[in-house]
Amino acid sequence: MKILAIETSCDETAITVLEATGNIESSQYTLLGDSLYSQASKHSEYGGVYPSLAKREHQQNLVPLTTETLRQAGLLKQDSCNTITDDVLEPLRDESFKKAVNDFLETTEKPDIDLIAVTNGPGLEPALWTGVTFAQALSAAWDIPLTGIDHMEGHITSALLKKDLRTPNTYHITDTALPLLALLISGGHTELITMKEWFAYNLVGQTRDDAVGEAFDKVARLLGLEYPGGPEISAYATKARERGGENPITLPRPMLHEESCDVSFSGLKTAVLYLVRDMGELSQEDKENIAREFEDAARDVLVHKTKRAIEIQHPKTLVVGGGVAANTHIREGLEELVSHHPNITLHYPESGLTGDNAIMIGIAAYLRHSAGKADTEKELNARGSQSLAE
Ligand code: KG4
Ligand code: ZN
Repeated sequence: MKILAIETSCDETAITVLEATGNIESSQYTLLGDSLYSQASKHSEYGGVYPSLAKREHQQNLVPLTTETLRQAGLLKQDSCNTITDDVLEPLRDESFKKAVNDFLETTEKPDIDLIAVTNGPGLEPALWTGVTFAQALSAAWDIPLTGIDHMEGHITSALLKKDLRTPNTYHITDTALPLLALLISGGHTELITMKEWFAYNLVGQTRDDAVGEAFDKVARLLGLEYPGGPEISAYATKARERGGENPITLPRPMLHEESCDVSFSGLKTAVLYLVRDMGELSQEDKENIAREFEDAARDVLVHKTKRAIEIQHPKTLVVGGGVAANTHIREGLEELVSHHPNITLHYPESGLTGDNAIMIGIAAYLRHSAGKADTEKELNARGSQSLAE
């Protein structure tokens, strides 16, 4: 089965074409084409993602990236002269976007694709709508079924995906032991979710305020570092650790001793704000020490709450997904935790798959399809605050 997947939930425009075989127990994937454009540098001056800019960028990038991805997959034939009716383009709203999509669909022959998958939430609504309406237009013009995929489900499946080292661009997912506990840590989310059966989720804990990635980004901004802040903070923290010695900075670990698996990061961020204000001009070393202590505090909170969730839920698989899953210091903390639980297998995404991408959306769509749970009938809406588990 060939799947065209589209991801536009935040500041990455991503398109993938993959071929998938197998079933929910054991599935194999060949990446036929993949394009990703990150807008991060454009949002940098705002210190975070600026929704209307993200939407405009997605509108500009979707057609060129889809063209390029189909070309990579050997599925692009642009010698047609199709007539595109108004109802196909109507949902796109914006005139220049409509024109770009119209020109693309007029000239492009229906590709050999069996299913279109698009992220329909959670995320920034204007950004999500751009991808959803684009997917609807392709689906209607080409008469290919369309399914909506939850972005966080994508992050879970991207952690389960293993590269096949013998053949380039091939991946597989095998022997996922359930129940699965997912620690989802990104710029918009911080959640502990269980999956006892495929696609049946329960919320175990979540942030009461800021997401951990958001806290990384805000603290980075307080220290005068670039957006996205996660990798910057991490690099500064590493320098402080390499220098060694006691850290003169101390920050709180919010909610560490509370019973629940919920977390909170806004107090930690505010503590950094006051600290920075009281310290006045910061030296490079001060910044590195603050980054180190902030990263330690974030790791302590996440590892401790994951430990608690393991004790309650007894998972066989622990999955860490979302942009913050790239953080090696947090990974090491989780590895240490899992070393005390030999019956749990820990998965995190391969490098290049931690951040937002369309591969994970295509894979999640295939897994859903193979479990008979890819809904292609429902009218698709973008839902900014959609949640996998209540
Ligand atoms: O999943 P993602 O790419 O987008 C969302 O869905 O939010 O996550 C982006 C977040 C940003 O907040 C970014 O600062 C953070 O992931 N991030 C990191 C690291 N790399 C990215 N946070 C901590 N350490 C990292 N190495
Ligand atoms: Zn994400």
